[in-house]
Amino acid sequence: MSLTGRTIILGVTGGIAAYKAAELCRLLVKAGADVRVAMTEAACRFVTPLTFQALSGKPVLTSLWADGSPDGMAHIQASRDADLILVAPASADFLARLAHGRADDLLATLCLARACPLAVAPAMNRAMWAAPATRRNLAQLAADGVHLLGPAAGEQACGEVGLGRMLEPAEILASLADRFGRGPLAGKRVLVTAGPTFEPIDPVRGLTNRSSGKMGYAVAAAAREAGAEVTLVSGSTCLPTPADVRRIDVETAAEMRAAVLAELPSDVFIAVAAVADYRPDAAAAHKLKKSEAGLKLDLVPNPDILAEVAARPDAPFCVGFAAETERLAEHAEAKRRRKKLPLLVGNLAQDTLGQDTAELVLFDDAGRHSLPRADKQTQARALIRHLATLLD
Ligand code: CTP
Repeated sequence: MSLTGRTIILGVTGGIAAYKAAELCRLLVKAGADVRVAMTEAACRFVTPLTFQALSGKPVLTSLWADGSPDGMAHIQASRDADLILVAPASADFLARLAHGRADDLLATLCLARACPLAVAPAMNRAMWAAPATRRNLAQLAADGVHLLGPAAGEQACGEVGLGRMLEPAEILASLADRFGRGPLAGKRVLVTAGPTFEPIDPVRGLTNRSSGKMGYAVAAAAREAGAEVTLVSGSTCLPTPADVRRIDVETAAEMRAAVLAELPSDVFIAVAAVADYRPDAAAAHKLKKSEAGLKLDLVPNPDILAEVAARPDAPFCVGFAAETERLAEHAEAKRRRKKLPLLVGNLAQDTLGQDTAELVLFDDAGRHSLPRADKQTQARALIRHLATLLD
């Protein structure tokens, strides 16, 4: 995948690996990226801004206060214009500042003001890498959707050996191209539903199912990796939001339907959610008391979100999931025709629910395609690749 035409801010922080950032800058420019370099004060002690200016062909951003733009907001503008911010090397101190949302120098401010993905390639001594504070900061950054590239293990500038060395520039470039290069779904809007729905019986109880949301989240991440702009409408799960995916949390099928309809038009709709087919006719306003007479619930059908979206005149390319417990092909093909779907993904529910791996069969107009058992992220990528060829 290519980085051609992507606007990248290369952030350089203070560490001996800053000298490798010069080579990284050269490789990014060679790959066709429009590179703007921002250095921290400490970075300027290791390498001069002039080096990066020569390599990027642009003035280097070093200070919040030396801002030449007429409105004095060059840092906000630079951040808004970027497709990606890459901080390499990212020092322990910089990661700590990032984790706390500090804006105490230009690069930290660019990161805080960004509307684009942020990737960091840490470089530090192995003890600093292993320190509990660094671990906490990295966990926070992962939760904030920051992409972590490396570090690698090996000999360090201080003479120690261990984890903390910055990835080689070529490795960083390859990883960036994989994650952020223009993929087969670049420019497409993809809407994904995931997880279970919860249909209240009373304020403390409800009907739900055993969907973990793992497959839907993997599909959302794979679509994002393929370059799409992804919105994930999710029932209740314990999963972290995939990086650069916009997530809307819902509880009931009715809320899921409303959230999905509000997100249309979209180029692709992938319905992975396990939507409850029925809901209690009316949820009790107060907690139901136990009674010897037992309890009968009146259930009414929920709207079929996928069928409704697929039937619209402006229908996106719709992908359904069918979890069956028997006669997979027969049920899946019938479901595909009934809901008028160009692509349906079938699996055996008992083999898949809550598991980390899945065996899938794709059904489309050309027939069947089996995806042998693999982890859900691998399956999701294969599904997205297949979908991209059908969209073509
Ligand atoms: N789906 C949906 N809204 C619903 C029910 C299902 O959007 N109310 C979507 C699911 O996300 C999935 C597909 O439709 O992509 C298949 O759902 P499933 O419940 O298996 O199909 P049904 O048509 O309800 O058939 P059955 O329950 O009889 O197997």
